[in-house]
Amino acid sequence: MTTQELYDRLHSIQPATVLCNYSFETCEKMLPLINEINELKRERNAVILAHSYVAPEIILSVSDFDGDSFKLSRDAMNAKADMIVFAAVRFMGETAKILNPEKKVLIPGTLTGCSLADSITGEETQKLRAKYPDHTFVCYINTTADVKAACDVCVTSSNVMQIVSSIPNDKILFLPDKLMGQNLQAELNKRGIPKEITLYEGCCYVHEQYDPEMIEFFRSQNQGLLVVSHPECHPGVALHSDFVGSTGQMVEFIGKSPEKASFLLLTECGLNARMQYEFPEKTFIGSCSMCRYMKSNSLENILETLRHPEKAEQIHIEETLRLKAKHCIDEMFRYSGVSVP
Ligand code: 13P
Ligand code: SF4
Repeated sequence: MTTQELYDRLHSIQPATVLCNYSFETCEKMLPLINEINELKRERNAVILAHSYVAPEIILSVSDFDGDSFKLSRDAMNAKADMIVFAAVRFMGETAKILNPEKKVLIPGTLTGCSLADSITGEETQKLRAKYPDHTFVCYINTTADVKAACDVCVTSSNVMQIVSSIPNDKILFLPDKLMGQNLQAELNKRGIPKEITLYEGCCYVHEQYDPEMIEFFRSQNQGLLVVSHPECHPGVALHSDFVGSTGQMVEFIGKSPEKASFLLLTECGLNARMQYEFPEKTFIGSCSMCRYMKSNSLENILETLRHPEKAEQIHIEETLRLKAKHCIDEMFRYSGVSVP
């Protein structure tokens, strides 16, 4: 890759923060890192998986697979490599390890938590199981392996509605995202599906900050604005949105919208940046809501991980625990019609 090619890919991103200020000089500085990463990837037979929320230069110059949680868990399952470098957060790396016990899974980020995954432990989930013995336990993919091991089926924001509707039991305990659970209950009620959802208290600190007043303000300033939000937002936000879905579904919705449409994206700013370079003819307005965990991935720490894999944070999951957590993920694939090798 040349500096000019890198600059052509990145320069259309509007700088919402200094993190997204792509001048030709910035691209020039990044290029040696990118070239070394790509070379080391080949040498080590490694692949890089990146969530859409990480910095655009990672997605555009070094990642082999990118997208939302569901797509990445499928990509992890099918990855043909000895090593997976997962530029995202720890729970995503754990999912990759659960599905690829024979591969090295390394996480380059320096803050690898997630406010949802950190809100509940496996032990707390077991206590809830004792309290609600007749409920089917559905966990969001944003959970640790311990929590998945204690649940019946895992879901992502792209398949939660379809999976919960198909579960034969009407009593569901959904954890840990309270707001996503409330959105799920509202949608089930709307469709006349008789499920009773018991909620937990977790929240995503990035998505919980949006409110309907904000939507009203942006709509008053921009005629014909299309509001697109993530199901981790408040139900009031979902109610006032034109579309609610996973990051992958948002991309699809935007792609199919009229050519000159304007959008307010209520999700992490990495997706906003991604939309700016994928759809340069469309307009994206709004503020930058950044996930500090996702943004702790950088070209520098990916390079360091590939240079010294022995020093990098590697995911290890004890085998009994892994098999239990895998069952929970396999159930998600089974409900989604995906065959598991
Ligand atoms: P997606 O599955 O929509 O990519 O969501 C992951 C996430 O962490 C959202 O905050
Ligand atoms: Fe977790 Fe929220 Fe960051 Fe997604 S955006 S990784 S849910 S803290």
